[in-house]
Amino acid sequence: MPVVPTQDIVDRAFRERYGVAAINVVNDLSMEAVLAAAEELRAPLIVQTSVKTVKSIGAGVLYAMWRAMADPLTVPVALHLDHCDERDVVTLCLENGWNSVLWDGSSMEYELNKAQCAEVVAEARPYGALVEGEIEGFKRTEEIGTADVELEQSLEACIEFIEATGVDVFAPAIGNAHGVYQKEPKLDNQRVTDIVEATGIPVALHGGTGMTPQQFADLVARGCAKVNISTALKIALMQSGYDFMTDNAGKYDPPSQFAVQREAVKAMAEEHIRMLGSEGKAW
Ligand code: 13P
Repeated sequence: MPVVPTQDIVDRAFRERYGVAAINVVNDLSMEAVLAAAEELRAPLIVQTSVKTVKSIGAGVLYAMWRAMADPLTVPVALHLDHCDERDVVTLCLENGWNSVLWDGSSMEYELNKAQCAEVVAEARPYGALVEGEIEGFKRTEEIGTADVELEQSLEACIEFIEATGVDVFAPAIGNAHGVYQKEPKLDNQRVTDIVEATGIPVALHGGTGMTPQQFADLVARGCAKVNISTALKIALMQSGYDFMTDNAGKYDPPSQFAVQREAVKAMAEEHIRMLGSEGKAW
């Protein structure tokens, strides 16, 4: 059975210190392409969906698509709900079969986030689903420009949140951001080590697009077992489509265009799987 609990994928990566790519997909084409990359490289993979994607496709259709594509595979894969602060969407995804969720109450006051997150953990347990938590929202790269991101939450606040909620994975702000970095981000790698040493749980690294192989290697060695990649997929998907349209002006040939886009997304996924060291780690 290739669909496994997210916990199994993350625990093994954490123990053996490699990173599992957790890639946000946006439709059937991108889902199939990243799964094909994992199968070809014999790598475990986490497929992520945003709340927006769940709402635009519908949880039932999205999950049916997932099982139809994942069931024939021979590598371990799991389906994860990325950044969600809507309790009804968490419930919807858990009921439909998602293997994990990121409860993102970072825009809430700390105590409220903590209480809500603990409730999500309790809700997820009967499903065998993993819960990731966060207390400090990730900025967008457009917002920060070339500035370094200052951390707003203390190490103590991170540890207290993890212990009080019982989350399985924690996503700390370490100077990372979502989007295309305008310069190499200055990351607080020590924060990852401190969290791992204090709590013993794996860390999820956000804002993976544009990080260097050296940054990935160091962070994975410190305990970033789950590495989120979203913007790189959007760029591969959209840019290859745009290039195809430009190169074939006046011809409208969706299957040929989709084939090119599929290859671009698959190549992007393969590049990240290799950089994170999960190639050949399927069991
Ligand atoms: P990027 O869009 O920067 O790759 O970040 C992905 C992410 O962290 C999704 O939660």
